[in-house]
Amino acid sequence: MDYRKKYLDFFAAKQHAIVASASLIPENDPTTLFTGSGMQPMVPYLLGARHPAGIRIANSQKCFRSGDIEEVGDNRHTTFFEMLGNWSLGDYFKTEQIAWMWEFLTREVNLDPARLYFTCFRGNEELEIPRDTESAELWQKLFSEKNIVAKIVDFSDQIGMQGGRIFYYSEKKNWWSRSGVPANMPIGEPGGPDTEMFYDFGEDLELHEKSDWAAEHCHVNCDCGRFVEIGNNVFMQYVKTEHGFEQLPQKNVDFGGGLERITMAAENQQDIFSTELFRELRQSIETLSGKTYGERAAETYAFRVVMDHMRAATFLICDGAIPSNKDQGYFTRRLIRRAVRMGHKLGIENNFSEAVSRAVISAYVAAYPELKIKEEQIVSDFVKEENKFRATLEKGLKVFEKQIDEINSDLNKMTGQWLFDFYQNFGFPFELIIEELKSRNFKLSDDQISKMSGDFSSVFEEHKNLSRVGAENKFKGGLGDHSDISVRYHTATHLLHATLKKVLGEHVEQKGSNITPERMRFDFSHNEKMTSEQIAEVEQLINAAIARDYPVSFEEMTVDEARAKKAIGLFGDKYGEKVKVYTVGDREAPAEADPTAPTYSREICGGPHVTHTALIGAFKIIKEEAVSAGVRRIKAVIE
Ligand code: SER
Repeated sequence: MDYRKKYLDFFAAKQHAIVASASLIPENDPTTLFTGSGMQPMVPYLLGARHPAGIRIANSQKCFRSGDIEEVGDNRHTTFFEMLGNWSLGDYFKTEQIAWMWEFLTREVNLDPARLYFTCFRGNEELEIPRDTESAELWQKLFSEKNIVAKIVDFSDQIGMQGGRIFYYSEKKNWWSRSGVPANMPIGEPGGPDTEMFYDFGEDLELHEKSDWAAEHCHVNCDCGRFVEIGNNVFMQYVKTEHGFEQLPQKNVDFGGGLERITMAAENQQDIFSTELFRELRQSIETLSGKTYGERAAETYAFRVVMDHMRAATFLICDGAIPSNKDQGYFTRRLIRRAVRMGHKLGIENNFSEAVSRAVISAYVAAYPELKIKEEQIVSDFVKEENKFRATLEKGLKVFEKQIDEINSDLNKMTGQWLFDFYQNFGFPFELIIEELKSRNFKLSDDQISKMSGDFSSVFEEHKNLSRVGAENKFKGGLGDHSDISVRYHTATHLLHATLKKVLGEHVEQKGSNITPERMRFDFSHNEKMTSEQIAEVEQLINAAIARDYPVSFEEMTVDEARAKKAIGLFGDKYGEKVKVYTVGDREAPAEADPTAPTYSREICGGPHVTHTALIGAFKIIKEEAVSAGVRRIKAVIE
């Protein structure tokens, strides 16, 4: 059964314009590498811009969440997924959305209402946002039409579900904005309460007791696997202002639901990889390996990684992320190599990416016709990458064994340089090395892994800076070319951003930047012309920071971690995804734009940067002017 089609037909019949999925590589957004939700491309319209297709929109959006790569292998995590979405842009609101969702789930998908559970926002007096009794009562009424008495209760981890079917949770669970809970939202960010929908796979006490949540009562948001969230209706009606939350000029609905999860519920199938959506892909791997998925527990993990990674890589290449050493392309490379390694464990020794990528294309081409147009290119990129890695795989595994013996299991000897050399010589991306260690029963703590990852990344980045040649991909952060002078300007931009915040105040936000080999331009929010003293102070601080010769390095982390470390920069739509955070100075110390402090700046950014600030040269502001109301522009050169 094709639930994607059912959903789109259902909303088309309710006067929604069905729009195409946006690319997995966001356009005009240097702050995030991938599209990770259906609403990401819709943000301007939720804020009030006119959508060319009208005020009722629906689609199925391709999504990729790089932060989930390591989770893949269990019964429900994938990096790529499709998010079904419908939006009311200032049109219908709670009554219609809730009634339609109920109709869709119970009639179109045919879910048993007795297996459905819902959560709503509990309200927060301090924020002056009321409890969403309207949604709770709407759901309750729909249950009563099916002769189900649905009790509404406040969730409490002390007493569990209390026989309830509709639960109020705090803003930790039932509030949605791109930056999470209200406290984390920047001024100007839209958000609102949401009501989430869950499917009950049935109680399995053993599963719960084996889970990390064993100590708690099981409830709808417990992660033991009993309940799966199948959709989220966000009532996007507020915007954060300096005086608290205010109503947006229009009340919006933003629904997002994972197609894979809705399919799991429809098939009452707890393993996402056993659903119809993966059938062709599963069969092609079974044919190649001569093994049957699900037959032997020891092979299940490898099967799942291959299925997820090959599907994701097919869509990524189609949208332009061809395997490479940087940016999005590096994710594609990691996915393919890990899939090849796992395929190898399943006994697939020869080229398999052609057969598997063609199976993905055939399964998805009706919904995403771009796959057909690019089919030959996708297959050829896959084959090239697979061959490149296979050429060194066997040898790499042998050398790995030997070197592990030599370092005598002392992981401290696996320095950043060691890890990088191994990648250079044998093409093993970092997480593959970690996986090889784990499969040899090395016990690695999260801290150890994250330190090794940072060390690897630093050496990797340094190497890229040294050996940069020509443009392979376009750079993020307003960089037009790859020349070393542009990279020096780019790092100077970070110093300038941090310094302006210090000298003019925390209200300064980057509004844009543009770099050519001759100069840099930096736009930022600020209401007045800068005085000549301020300009001189900014120059002097930056030149002192350059002279101190801070090291520049980066780490990958989640958006929440970046926020906790007070990284500046554009948080934008990044969620569910890891970001790169560049630090000028000590990666552990708090950043302060003061050349006597251990750390001068910390900023979310795709790179690249110089490895040491002294490489920048002398910094000089040549112009400061207005661009538009509240936005100033600095032009600067390095000499
Ligand atoms: N914005 C919500 C989500 O991503 C619904 O689309 O879950």
